[in-house]
Amino acid sequence: MSEKRNLIDITDLSVAEIGALIATAEDIAANPAKYENACAHKQLATLFFEPSTRTRLSFESAMLALGGGVLGFSEAASSSTSKGETVGDTVHTVSCYADIIAMRHPKEGAPYAAAQFSEVPIINAGDGGHNHPTQTLTDLLTIHREKGRLDNFTIGFCGDLKFGRTVHSLVNALSRQHGVKFVFISPEELKLPDYLKDNVLKKNGLPYEETSSLEEAIPQLDILYMTRVQKERFFNEADYIRLKDTYVLDTEKLVPAKKDLCILHPLPRVNEIAVAVDQDSRAAYWKQVKNGKYIRMALIMKLLGIRI
Ligand code: CP
Repeated sequence: MSEKRNLIDITDLSVAEIGALIATAEDIAANPAKYENACAHKQLATLFFEPSTRTRLSFESAMLALGGGVLGFSEAASSSTSKGETVGDTVHTVSCYADIIAMRHPKEGAPYAAAQFSEVPIINAGDGGHNHPTQTLTDLLTIHREKGRLDNFTIGFCGDLKFGRTVHSLVNALSRQHGVKFVFISPEELKLPDYLKDNVLKKNGLPYEETSSLEEAIPQLDILYMTRVQKERFFNEADYIRLKDTYVLDTEKLVPAKKDLCILHPLPRVNEIAVAVDQDSRAAYWKQVKNGKYIRMALIMKLLGIRI
């Protein structure tokens, strides 16, 4: 039997493996019937200690579309962790019932720790303000489908770059591609963490700039990745209220943007993209939601060692 593979950090997958996952996801989107029994008799557990709409439901929808079953919980209060059980014991227990586990937790590093107690693959479905590797796979599939490539572009990340785990994982993934220039647009208090600038960008000599002006940055961008200010990570509500509406992308701000700009957002959106932008052909965030299911189908098959 092959060794258990987890997905805790996006760098747990090589660039070639990510390319293969994207190719599988494209085939799933084109030929869904081919995959409808791929995971027959397999069970996915979704252990969500933090709220989710897209990640949990796309994982469950993905497993059902592969012919498998799903079990799990959507809040910590309905699991025995509320009675004092450790996350390690909870995960050990669930790994006796399921073949693969997707886990979201508010504490950074919790899925990594949980993986030490699991007999089956663990997928990090978001850990605090740290990482969100399956959102990154979704983002990469969407960029590939919209742009036809994963390299040689300028991408702007706008909003909460400090706590935005989807930003951290995507920066890591794109740092391994050729010719990507990064523009980080945020208020001073929500800048990209130094550990990413030092250990990922500077260490690899990758070009990046930081600005607080979305208006000044937008004309040079090929991709604009908007993010929500992460209310749940703030220690102080006054700071959240002061910062939450710093950036609102509307149709006026898009006037000087490139005609083939690709607008992404991991969602949920609060105020940072006006609803009118949804009608703009450059808005790709609803396609991103759909792509999340295809790429998670590809990932589940890969981690279970299933080939079609
Ligand atoms: N993008 C994302 O993680 O959304 P949810 O919080 O709804 O899962």
